[in-house]
Amino acid sequence: MTETKKSIHGEWSSRFAFILAATGSAVGLGNIWKFPYITGENGGGAFVIIYLVCILAIGIPIMMAETLMGRRGRQSPINTMKDLAKEAGADENWHLLGWLGVIAGFLILSYYSVIAGWAGAYVLKSVTGSFFDGSAAEIKSLFDSFIASPLQLMFWHTLFMAVTMYVVSQGVKGGIERAVRFLMPSLFFILILMVGYAMSSGGYEQGLEFLFYPDFSEVTGESVLTAMGHAFFTLSLGMGAIMVYGSYLPKGISIGKTAILIAGADTAVALLAGIAIFPIVFANGLEPSSGPGLLFQSLPIAFGNMGGGFIFGTLFFILLVFAALSSSISLIEPAVAWLVENRNMSREMACLWSGVITWLVGLGTVFSFNIGSEFKIFDKTIFDLLDYLTANLMLPIGGFCIAVFAGWIMKAEHTREELAPSAAWHYALWKFLVCFVSPAAVFFVFLNVIGIL
Ligand code: PHE
Repeated sequence: MTETKKSIHGEWSSRFAFILAATGSAVGLGNIWKFPYITGENGGGAFVIIYLVCILAIGIPIMMAETLMGRRGRQSPINTMKDLAKEAGADENWHLLGWLGVIAGFLILSYYSVIAGWAGAYVLKSVTGSFFDGSAAEIKSLFDSFIASPLQLMFWHTLFMAVTMYVVSQGVKGGIERAVRFLMPSLFFILILMVGYAMSSGGYEQGLEFLFYPDFSEVTGESVLTAMGHAFFTLSLGMGAIMVYGSYLPKGISIGKTAILIAGADTAVALLAGIAIFPIVFANGLEPSSGPGLLFQSLPIAFGNMGGGFIFGTLFFILLVFAALSSSISLIEPAVAWLVENRNMSREMACLWSGVITWLVGLGTVFSFNIGSEFKIFDKTIFDLLDYLTANLMLPIGGFCIAVFAGWIMKAEHTREELAPSAAWHYALWKFLVCFVSPAAVFFVFLNVIGIL
């Protein structure tokens, strides 16, 4: 592999551009929609602490591993894995890891797009004043009747998929960089504003206590798996999204610092979302464990009752759609990059094909909330099943393999070269984490869940 090799898909214009894009990928529905509701379903504080430990001990080292592997391979994850395995003298079958990621990306995007569609619909509801002066019960029934309509969900899902595929077809620089530049600061700003509002609502203390007071007696093997799976999901790890973005990263940029920055921003957004949502939940007698509707049943109460709520509500849901968009493009990029490299397709055709397939799979999720809600496999609706399969199984398995590959298979001189310039003890710490801590953590959590431990 030569020093000067560049990706055929283009390169980021700077370190900042990579940080923006990777943060754009990480910050999304996972932080604002998913983190609060799974925290609510898993008892609060103790779950949050386990999640934070997973970010530090598993997430950051694996994010560094994925980035460095991508930058060294310079192609879609499938071809990157092929080349890196060859370089390390290892089995070619390692490229199957790339395939696992591509499939996980399709499956995640299929339901991600449906939920992002909800956010789109809520932009409109906000503009038309649907939450105005709404009681908690009215806001809940607004949400319930919305998701009961397959046609409405399908409409918004279609719209979101179309926009995603259009942005991806514009390529790395044109589409992705431009899309995230203003988004992150604005999203941060509006979340802080909502935290300010939540502080003045009656449920603030109870909300904070729920989020941060750990009661470990509530913790089960399944909730640890959910916390760990979510650490992968929220940092976009284990499926090649960060690897493919790493492949567009120029040489000579410190991967360690960059990963810490991205993980820090991602965690801050999730915690802010929690701090904004739970006080409203408690002040209005909602159930923390209400599931995927939690965000849509809580914040609109605040928007409906605060001065200027119509503007803030609209802005909030617009930003949420953008945050989802900057994540969804990274979910499909590994597949698109591979189609362009190996099937000789134009970027546009690659986008069209992968978009249509994802859209079709997404219909399963659309129907999970209405006409198909009784259809269950392993006692789960299609949406629940896809979510469990990807976040709790495929991403951790992918992450485990990435850690093993970077820690045990790649030559130390190569990983050291990619992580330079970094102090010797920084490298040693990273190596220890990817060789032992991250893989062992994933392994033991799995053993526990299947009942062996
Ligand atoms: N990290 C994104 C979020 O939190 C979701 C995602 C998962 C994106 C995996 C890419 C890869 O919303």
